[in-house]
Amino acid sequence: MCENDLIYMRRCLNLAKEGLGYVRSNPLVGCVIVKDNHIIGEGFHHAFGKPHAEIEAINNVKDKSQIKNSTIYINLEPCSHYGKTPPCSQSIIDVQPLRLVIADIDPNPLVNNKGKEILEKAGIKVDVGLCKNEHRHLNRRFYTFYQKNRPYIILKWAQTLDGFIAQKNQQCIKWISNDASLQLVHKWRTEEMAILVGAETIRCDNPQLTSRHWYGHNPIRLVVTNSSNLPINSNIFNDQAETTIFYKNLIKQYPSNIDLVKIENDFLGSLFAYCLEKNIISILVEGGASTLDNFIKRNLWDEARVIIGSNIFGNGKKAPIIDEYKSFDIFDLEDNKIIHYYNDTY
Ligand SMILES: NC(=O)c1ccc[n+]([C@@H]2O[C@H](COP(=O)([O-])OP(=O)(O)OC[C@H]3O[C@@H](n4cnc5c(N)ncnc54)[C@H](OP(=O)(O)O)[C@@H]3O)[C@@H](O)[C@H]2O)c1
Repeated sequence: MCENDLIYMRRCLNLAKEGLGYVRSNPLVGCVIVKDNHIIGEGFHHAFGKPHAEIEAINNVKDKSQIKNSTIYINLEPCSHYGKTPPCSQSIIDVQPLRLVIADIDPNPLVNNKGKEILEKAGIKVDVGLCKNEHRHLNRRFYTFYQKNRPYIILKWAQTLDGFIAQKNQQCIKWISNDASLQLVHKWRTEEMAILVGAETIRCDNPQLTSRHWYGHNPIRLVVTNSSNLPINSNIFNDQAETTIFYKNLIKQYPSNIDLVKIENDFLGSLFAYCLEKNIISILVEGGASTLDNFIKRNLWDEARVIIGSNIFGNGKKAPIIDEYKSFDIFDLEDNKIIHYYNDTY
């Protein structure tokens, strides 16, 4: 390891974060090109379908001949296959750096060590493993998808101080979360590929499930129902975002823009198979309690974000209980508390 390797890799990770919410099923990657201890170019993967970080960084170097004998830092192994863009490993070979420092090998079987091998065969020294844990945490959605064959699951709900998610007469979430928390939830929505709720939440609250209070994309709306009894004028049937319904018994006709998926035996099995097919690498599960319990009971969740309001309902629908987790953090947002539980290994 060289003296300033850590500084440059941390810079890569900071750049990589900028892509959150835009790279979709791709990893968050940053790249820094260093010559004589000066950054001569840097870049990150901005959005799905756009150039990868290393291409951005190379393109940002004014005089490309300067890259010869430089060190290139990237937090993920360069790709070796044709996807939406040509392979980055060849573009790196073309500019002839001396050394490459990468945080980790790509878990995607299409790449997995192949990029590293191609670069080494071309005579470039490749060092792997610097800031691996930070990189894996940043890319926890991507690693979960390829290593656990399922999307990264984030559970989210708002509860009162006395532990209820709704009143007996079914007043909705807005009575618990303050305006700042509602806006934060909309930001969270832009960061994930899909959002899931149970049918009872659609019947009680008629939510839009969009990110309208934050800039960024609307996630795909997923709804689970046994009965398939969803009011036909529900907001989820508007054209603000895609909607998919997972059903057991189909009793009514839905608008033609709605995707329908039959639950074969087990809901989570059907959900995960659908996500693998569609490259949906993360889901924000927003309730209600019985939908959240599907994941908690089987310990199939990675994060839980719980908003605790300052009010008391006295009775109503009980909030889920998380009693096993690896770590947590907590912060105040005006009169709400936000608790963030981590259950994952990244
Ligand atoms: N405070 C919060 O953060 C928050 C968030 C969301 C909702 N809420 C509140 O929570 C209440 C609703 O919660 P809830 O627990 O009663 O209901 P829910 O989880 O919203 O919906 C339950 C329904 O989802 C379907 N479902 C769930 N798991 C299923 C599975 N494995 N297979 C097939 N279908 C499945 C069933 O639909 P069918 O009945 O159609 O068969 C079930 O009745 C509402 O009052 C809402 O306002 C609060």
